[in-house]
Amino acid sequence: MEKFIIYGPSKRVNGEVYISGAKNSVLGLLASSLLFEEPVVLSNVPFVKDVFTMIKLLKSLGSKVQINKKKNFLKIYNKKKLKSFVSYDLVKTMRAGVLAMGPLLGKLNKCKVALSGGCALGVRPINFHLKGFSKMGAKYKLNKGYVNISARRGLKGKVYNFPKITVTGTSNLIMSAVLSKGKTILKNIAIEPEIIDLINFLKKGGAKIYFLKKRTIKIIGVKSLKSVNHSVVGDRIEAFSYLCVAAITKGKLHVRNIDPKFLKKEIQILKKIGCKINSINNSIIIEGGKQIKPVNLKTSAYPGFATDNMPMLMSVLCIANGRSQIKETIFENRFMAVPELNRLSASIEVKNNKAYISGKKQLYAAQCISSDLRSTFSIILGCISAKGKSQVDRIYHGLRGYFEPENKLKKIGIKIKKIN
Ligand code: EPZ
Repeated sequence: MEKFIIYGPSKRVNGEVYISGAKNSVLGLLASSLLFEEPVVLSNVPFVKDVFTMIKLLKSLGSKVQINKKKNFLKIYNKKKLKSFVSYDLVKTMRAGVLAMGPLLGKLNKCKVALSGGCALGVRPINFHLKGFSKMGAKYKLNKGYVNISARRGLKGKVYNFPKITVTGTSNLIMSAVLSKGKTILKNIAIEPEIIDLINFLKKGGAKIYFLKKRTIKIIGVKSLKSVNHSVVGDRIEAFSYLCVAAITKGKLHVRNIDPKFLKKEIQILKKIGCKINSINNSIIIEGGKQIKPVNLKTSAYPGFATDNMPMLMSVLCIANGRSQIKETIFENRFMAVPELNRLSASIEVKNNKAYISGKKQLYAAQCISSDLRSTFSIILGCISAKGKSQVDRIYHGLRGYFEPENKLKKIGIKIKKIN
């Protein structure tokens, strides 16, 4: 199994990082291509593992997908009649498989999709997705780990108020509504940049989607969608991960291809812990502070501090000159990196959904194991700062959402190699 070997403590990084397209946007865009009968072209595609899993899922439904890795683009054709079955082996490693439900229901009036089950972060239910589909006239039953859902006379536009903000729930309901009869009003929706990217993409295809309020949209069903050529927005989580590399090594980085507006709250926090930051139109220049100051923080839905960014900030706070506190409000179990950071001699205590980090002068190398996507990068950051030769096992978790991290890190001066 592939692993990373990292020699630390790394000297101050220096240079440029080019951010890839957002994994959490391209997965929704790929799923929504099922709604189209004309070809769809996506550029700035991050060729990470989850994207290949989603391509496999689309092909299993009958889509034709042309991949151009050199130019980072995909062309998807859905001429043929689509199948409506999404198998468990496609969903078990990538929860985003649930995103096929909305478009299949909206296009074919039925589908049978495997429940992804829980993951390291928690139970990951989809009750708010199903509640929304039922509101629009669908009937569903769960058995043997699959959701069988159908709307014989097609979905009908209704008003649906999400009981809680859910990112993929919002994407699923939007995709199910763009071709359905009548007018749908969705309230308390997620407004992450990846959701806005999906809305812009669908509107380019002729979908009628309008914001009525900050978290309320109106969707008027249309007969069909036309061809779209769309560039995926930059990945704000990957961008923050590299900003943290500059913070933890007190180095200087120019992080390119990212809209700084996607990281307003995170930039505020990085400034609070002592980093100097300059935001220019599509990039962020950061200089780590001589000292890392402690900070108290809580995660929340966008535009709050992203839960996905929290594990990386936690690693930086491991060498702050004081005690920090992080409150996680989205997932039950987002502190998977803590035992590994403590193996690197960090001093983190977790009580319920709070982590208390007592900053240390120096971390020390160790062998670590990753258990989920973002904790992989959090552990990498710890190893970058730790003295000695560290190893990170099970990096496949991280490669689900980071494109060639070892190459991007090597380019800015980190001593890292990937071995089998
Ligand atoms: C998306 O997951 C992202 N994944 C996650 O990124 C991200 O952490 C999360 O949003 C929160 O921002 C993709 O976009 C593919 P939610 P999602 O539905 O949609 C509860 C990464 O690292 N909930 O917004 O699955 C749920 O349990 C990944 O890239 C229900 O109770 O998250 C959680 O506590 C990890 N019922 C909260 O809401 C539901 O029907 C937010 O979940 C749906 C959600």
